[in-house]
Amino acid sequence: MSWSKKTRGLRTLWVVGLVLVIAVAAAASAIAASGSKAKRTASIDVAVLLPDSKSSVRWETQDRRFLGSAFKAAGLKYSITNAEGDAQRQRAQAEQALTNGAKVLLLVNLDSGSGAAIETLAASKGAKTIDYDRLTLKGKAAYYVSFDNVQVGKLQGKGLVAGLKANGSYSKHPVIAELNGSPTDNNATLFKQGYDSILNPLYKSGTFKKGPDQSVPAWDNQKALTIFEQMLAKTSNNIQGVAAANDGLGNAVISALKARKLKPIPVTGQDATAQGVQNIISGWQTMSVYKSIKLEAGAASKLAIALIKGQPAKTNGKVNDGNRNVPSVLLTPISITKSNYTLLFTDGFLKKGEVCRGEFAKFCK
Ligand code: BGC
Repeated sequence: MSWSKKTRGLRTLWVVGLVLVIAVAAAASAIAASGSKAKRTASIDVAVLLPDSKSSVRWETQDRRFLGSAFKAAGLKYSITNAEGDAQRQRAQAEQALTNGAKVLLLVNLDSGSGAAIETLAASKGAKTIDYDRLTLKGKAAYYVSFDNVQVGKLQGKGLVAGLKANGSYSKHPVIAELNGSPTDNNATLFKQGYDSILNPLYKSGTFKKGPDQSVPAWDNQKALTIFEQMLAKTSNNIQGVAAANDGLGNAVISALKARKLKPIPVTGQDATAQGVQNIISGWQTMSVYKSIKLEAGAASKLAIALIKGQPAKTNGKVNDGNRNVPSVLLTPISITKSNYTLLFTDGFLKKGEVCRGEFAKFCK
């Protein structure tokens, strides 16, 4: 090899090396600027971050479709992702949505800490957040959309009392168990506040006896079954009524009762799920709480549009998040029993065929 060829070879190597160094540096600064490794995969206006698909079927069967149609009707480009109970995954989904240009995030947090971190991240990218259904304590949300969740709990408490009156155990000092939602969900705190406001005075007067009272981590239905089985074991089956915070937890109670061949007792629920309504019409569940997700999604979409356009939006309350009052839209929950469950069909929430089928068909009018 001649000297000149060698020098040319060295020069080429040097140039290639330099190009590589520049490319790596450029990529690194791009990552630093976006704060994530996410690549833009679409262009969106608003992103919904759902929590999981197991703590309640509502997120995938109701919220997804009603939010989708509300955004479509509003002409907004949107994405809907589900974190499946993993806070880190929700964080990554938020990063991706922001990289894709989302101006508004609709967040259903998994816990207030991870939720607040997502809201801080969004703010640093100039995006706004709306707390959807669950309030993020000490967060940064521009708005909160939900139901009056203390009222949800009051309906559950009143429904339990009505069930105990109807089966004759009200006057026999029934032992009441409480199966609460996730300790990391502010809603669970509010539901409990609601049913305890009905039950505590009755414990105090000696009308009811307070039995076991436990929260279910992450609203996990499987854990709820174990917890309730332990409650039965501990009390030698001496439980006459259960305040269960949603239909999934109520169904865990019912499964445990059936497994032990015990008789139905008043059990509450929430979300007006097909399974919950089947438990109601077959006499195993006293009530559920219907929260119109169509209204909740519609309200959220209106707020998102207002934020995107920089216009003021209508709210009907303020809720304190531990630091400040968050302007809120709070909707009214409806109690569902055997006597009014068909409202769910006429409202387009459930299809009759989802409820009135198989062994449950005979309970439908
Ligand atoms: C929601 C309920 C739901 C529960 C479990 C709560 O924050 O308000 O509708 O059943 O989470 O997902």
